[in-house]
Amino acid sequence: MQLRIAAYWLLPVLAARAAPANIYNQLNKRDLSTSPPVYPSPWMNPEADGWKEAYAKARDFVSQMTLLEKVNLTTGVGWAAEQCVGQVGAIPRLGLRSLCMHDAPLGIRGSDYNAAFPSGQTVAATFDRGLIYRRGYAIGQEAKGKGIDVILGPVAGPIGRMPAAGRNWEGFSPDPVLTGIGMSESIKGIQDAGTIACAKHFVGNEQEHFRQVGEARGYGFNISETLSSNIDDKTMHELYIWPFADAVRAGVGSVMCSYQQINNSYGCQNSKALNGLLKDELGFQGFVMSDWQAQHTGAASAVAGLDMSMPGDTEFNTGLSFWGANLTLAVLNGTVPAYRIDDMALRIMAAFFKVHKTVDGLEPINFSFWTLDTYGPIHWAANKGYQQINHHVDVRADHGNLIREIGAKATVLLKNTGSLPLKKPKFLAVIGEDAGANPNGPNSCADRGCDNGTLAMGWGSGTANFPYLVTPDAALQAQALQDGSRYESILTNYATSQTKALVSQANVTAVVFVNADSGEGYINVDGNMGDRKNLTLWKNGDSLVKNVSSWCPNTIVVIHSVGPVLLTEWYDNPNITAILWAGLPGQESGNSITDVLYGKVNPSGRSPFTWGATRESYGADVLYTPNNGNGAPQQDFSEGVFIDYRYFDKANSTVIYEFGHGLSYTTFEYSNIRVEKSNAGPYRPTTGTTAPAPTFGNFSTDLNDYVFPSDELEYIYQYIYPYLNTTDAKNASADPYYGKTAEEFLPPHATDDTPQPLLRSSGGNSPGGNPQLYDIMYTITADITNTGSIVGDEVVQLYVSLGGPNDPKVVLRDFGKLRIEPGQTAQFRGTLTRRDLSNWDTGLQDWVVSNYTKTVYVGRSSRKLDLSAVLL
Ligand SMILES: *[C@@H]1O[C@H](CO)[C@@H](O)[C@H](O)[C@H]1NC(C)=O
Ligand SMILES: *[C@@H]1O[C@H](CO)[C@@H](O)[C@H](O)[C@H]1NC(C)=O
Ligand SMILES: *[C@@H]1O[C@H](CO)[C@@H](O)[C@H](O)[C@H]1NC(C)=O
Ligand SMILES: *[C@@H]1O[C@H](CO)[C@@H](O)[C@H](O)[C@H]1NC(C)=O
Ligand SMILES: *[C@@H]1O[C@H](CO)[C@@H](O)[C@H](O)[C@H]1NC(C)=O
Ligand SMILES: *[C@@H]1O[C@H](CO)[C@@H](O)[C@H](O)[C@H]1NC(C)=O
Ligand SMILES: *[C@@H]1O[C@H](CO)[C@@H](O)[C@H](O)[C@H]1NC(C)=O
Ligand SMILES: *[C@@H]1O[C@H](CO)[C@@H](O)[C@H](O)[C@H]1NC(C)=O
Ligand SMILES: *[C@@H]1O[C@H](CO)[C@@H](O)[C@H](O)[C@H]1NC(C)=O
Ligand SMILES: *[C@@H]1O[C@H](CO)[C@@H](O)[C@H](O)[C@H]1NC(C)=O
Repeated sequence: MQLRIAAYWLLPVLAARAAPANIYNQLNKRDLSTSPPVYPSPWMNPEADGWKEAYAKARDFVSQMTLLEKVNLTTGVGWAAEQCVGQVGAIPRLGLRSLCMHDAPLGIRGSDYNAAFPSGQTVAATFDRGLIYRRGYAIGQEAKGKGIDVILGPVAGPIGRMPAAGRNWEGFSPDPVLTGIGMSESIKGIQDAGTIACAKHFVGNEQEHFRQVGEARGYGFNISETLSSNIDDKTMHELYIWPFADAVRAGVGSVMCSYQQINNSYGCQNSKALNGLLKDELGFQGFVMSDWQAQHTGAASAVAGLDMSMPGDTEFNTGLSFWGANLTLAVLNGTVPAYRIDDMALRIMAAFFKVHKTVDGLEPINFSFWTLDTYGPIHWAANKGYQQINHHVDVRADHGNLIREIGAKATVLLKNTGSLPLKKPKFLAVIGEDAGANPNGPNSCADRGCDNGTLAMGWGSGTANFPYLVTPDAALQAQALQDGSRYESILTNYATSQTKALVSQANVTAVVFVNADSGEGYINVDGNMGDRKNLTLWKNGDSLVKNVSSWCPNTIVVIHSVGPVLLTEWYDNPNITAILWAGLPGQESGNSITDVLYGKVNPSGRSPFTWGATRESYGADVLYTPNNGNGAPQQDFSEGVFIDYRYFDKANSTVIYEFGHGLSYTTFEYSNIRVEKSNAGPYRPTTGTTAPAPTFGNFSTDLNDYVFPSDELEYIYQYIYPYLNTTDAKNASADPYYGKTAEEFLPPHATDDTPQPLLRSSGGNSPGGNPQLYDIMYTITADITNTGSIVGDEVVQLYVSLGGPNDPKVVLRDFGKLRIEPGQTAQFRGTLTRRDLSNWDTGLQDWVVSNYTKTVYVGRSSRKLDLSAVLL
């Protein structure tokens, strides 16, 4: 196996300050597509804020561990070797059961009696920190109740560079501030509930196509390496790692590195990304786990900052591992320094102790991902250990109510010319497959890999089984019957003559449900390899809307989708009296939309992305065909920070509905902006050095001490162990290149254990970067008056123009959601931190507040900026 490590630097070319406006076009591909080496891998800081107690407990625990135990803790036991989607080896001697890493960001994947929550993107549309936190807390509670130790979410990569990208819905928004708040509130919720969160995928994981070589071959492209996301340093800071900084600051216990390459170095062995950005600059104290099969090397990934190999085998079910026995050998033969394996174990245990007091009392893992059967083999791949593997523990509590509330409060009322809210309509006609049930049941397609019936989540590993799914048809019919309305529904998009006959009748209020789906790259739905192949509605949806609205003057359209769809052909038809985006609402879908349509919940969702008129109007797009022969497809993020609304603003394009847009059944007026400057003082770069790398405990170098203990343990087929098969190191490693020394194949400083200088932009003891970046520089207040006749929630948005020629027109920096009674005025209060006002200076390698005049705006969307003031 060829070793792939970070290529040597060319990046200083990017360091030119005061870059010209079109810098990205001037750089040639080489400049953008190499990743500098950053070594050694930072070791934990015992004084890090929020981690001290966890560190002390972890140090005590790790000090008692043997080398085999440390390797066990860092290496997954193999695909389907145990119950969860990933597990590491247990430490029976110290009473720690095997830790369970399990999907997913919207609920527990593949189990039963769990809730199916709204997607990340949907909860982002609430613009409500409290609801994001409560969703995280509920997911964390459910995970804990099933015996899951690390839940594999939330998601900030993809952030949503391209609207067609398959997994955008798992994350929050293409705006880094909204995503950052989504990350931190979710993480706090999950971890307060007693489960470790995992911020993923670090970083630049923006599309499904070509993320894995084998997968790409499956759809006909014979590439030898995965896609490289080529991201310049400024864009990396101002956009892609911004929300990860918030995640680290929120104390996230783990981070998952990504499948694709970053500047032509694999995400899980990219020393610039993991050692440099994540651990050095952001001061991340938890552990980095690989995405499943995203690890491609042993010692090289270890020194580049990977801490846990998932699911542990080189590829699914090879029975071989880059770590396991290889890591044991690599520590014994000095390739991987002892402090590095100690630091891996320390980071894992510190994350553990951050959410648990002790190793005892953990909920046993009481479900199996691989089957819903009560009894079966606990070692699924090996078909070994037949026993009760599913205990069917109901962990849902009252989460259905929260899901209904989020679904309603996330719904974005894009258009309303007066037909909403509904008040006992005489005749309600509900049209479209998306209003009804999947005829084969809501869980009939594996990992939701189909688009049958109403769409309430996308497909892939980011899914959960529905405990039930309330369809719009069921909920609206129940409401209609209660009101004495006449009710009929046609739950197909293709019954054209019957639909015409129905909606052409007198007194009809027609509600048309349409959708667009996407998901993860290992499932192909109707020719969509994860990423959407187009931005239009699925299953004839546009024709359905156009037809119904040509026959019925009161047509209301509800969209369930994974992101924007093109509304261009029909949105301004006057017969279309209302348009709503309901996202992916989860199990209570029908109840949530009924609450909004009937005004039981006054809509307050805001679009977390832009609705462009054409696909091209978004700028960046998915790369669908390899562009580098059989080599790694190259995706240059040449638009820099200009994605979504920043791109539309830069291009002066009109949009159908802008980022942040959403209507209410009441009206609001904005007045009286005030700006108060705080005395934050000048920025002081961090200085000094770390302590030298500590090691904990010692180990024998006699290979006899490491051979598989066959007298104590039964060997399980394909299972990954820390043990050696033989005392012959070369044979035990089964590595044809065995014997190369660290000096021969690892980069300089990879094994250095001496004190290291702290980066000026780093936080010292404060995770998330230099703490002064979070100093409040300005407090902005404004008065918001409810000028309508009913109570409503207004999402007040704070935007800033940083003023430079290369800065976006405006960027979102804060928001607040205010509940205001009719006739009343409430005060919005938002803040601007130093980071909010800074640009990343590539030469200085730090954040700098430029001298350009900065303007703050308080408004109701990215293009309705009611109030403004110059920052002095
Ligand atoms: C490693 O983990 C396996 C599986 O959980 C366990 O059987 C074994 O005892 C562990 N080994 C050590 C040295 O703790
Ligand atoms: C050790 O890693 C190499 C790749 O570096 C792999 O070929 C080999 O099979 C691994 N050995 C074991 C025992 O898993
Ligand atoms: C469900 O979806 C699959 C795949 O998209 C499709 O082939 C099938 O016809 C659908 N089944 C029903 C009952 O709608
Ligand atoms: C129902 O339709 C008829 C015919 O257009 C009209 O006269 C009547 O006012 C309508 N009633 C309601 C409640 O909309
Ligand atoms: C876009 O893709 C969807 C899903 O595959 C498909 O139903 C639809 O027909 C496509 N739209 C166009 C205009 O081809
Ligand atoms: C609106 O609906 C009426 C039927 O009530 C139809 O005659 C008219 O053509 C429709 N208008 C548009 C723009 O589709
Ligand atoms: C956008 O409009 C501004 C102000 O009218 C103008 O200066 C700028 O050149 C325009 N940009 C583009 C890309 O058309
Ligand atoms: C180690 O030994 C087990 C049991 O004999 C065997 O199944 C496995 O393939 C061996 N692994 C390697 C890397 O030789
Ligand atoms: C040390 O072990 C690792 C992992 O098996 C192997 O790749 C490397 O070649 C070995 N180095 C030496 C000097 O034996
Ligand atoms: C802003 O202007 C002052 C005074 O001219 C200068 O010292 C400082 O370096 C400038 N700051 C930046 C970020 O350019």
